[in-house]
Amino acid sequence: MNNNVLKKIEMDIVSSEFIVSNTDVTKCPAGNFPEYAFIGRSNVGKSSLINRLTHRKGLAMTSSTPGKTMLINHFLINNEWYLVDLPGYGYAKRGKKGQSQIERIINKYILEREQLSNLFLLIDSRLEPQAIDVEFTNFLGENQIPFSIVFTKSDKLKKGQRRKNIDLWVQELEKTWEELPPYFITSSVTGEGREDVLKYISEINKFINQQKKNNEKI
Ligand code: GTP
Ligand code: MG
Repeated sequence: MNNNVLKKIEMDIVSSEFIVSNTDVTKCPAGNFPEYAFIGRSNVGKSSLINRLTHRKGLAMTSSTPGKTMLINHFLINNEWYLVDLPGYGYAKRGKKGQSQIERIINKYILEREQLSNLFLLIDSRLEPQAIDVEFTNFLGENQIPFSIVFTKSDKLKKGQRRKNIDLWVQELEKTWEELPPYFITSSVTGEGREDVLKYISEINKFINQQKKNNEKI
């Protein structure tokens, strides 16, 4: 077996299991498995991406109507780490009260969940930078939350168009960030970007495991 084949197997998902849904960060699973959460506007494709990453079509619930995911959902991957599906922000039809309730759930999770190793902020690759998403990156920066950006639905537009939107995003981020967060271009329809996202997660997992080992030695 050559090294490339080995690497591919190493980063793949061999098991995925729904564990729990809730609205309260204190009721999320105990233990210290690293976790990777998906956030972004309603309908951007968070749940679909989780299904694509795990190759399980019905694992996370998806819908063409925004506002489908209402809870914090934990999925255990390879018995070693979690993928977390979060409700989306910015869905006006929820009403002010509904929206602020969801925002409270999301913000509390993001700010208080110690196991959160990286947040994937999903952005629709068809759109130019939107104020609500830019504000969200600022919120993450102010609170020093490690995050990366995932451009979604890349199958829906031509390469030139998406490059233009991504370049606009890079320009926007350069206004506030010295070092830009990593970004990925994905499609839950074609599977584009799946391996890159999994590889990134696997690198962080390795780093965390190494740190745990080093701490055990001390
Ligand atoms: P909420 O849970 O409501 O916040 O939405 P979400 O971000 O989880 O979005 P979801 O995964 O439910 O997808 C919303 C809609 O977009 C569904 O109709 C999906 O089929 C569609 N969709 C998601 N990802 C892609 C993609 O990569 N390409 C295309 N063409 N459609 C997508
Ligand atoms: Mg969802």
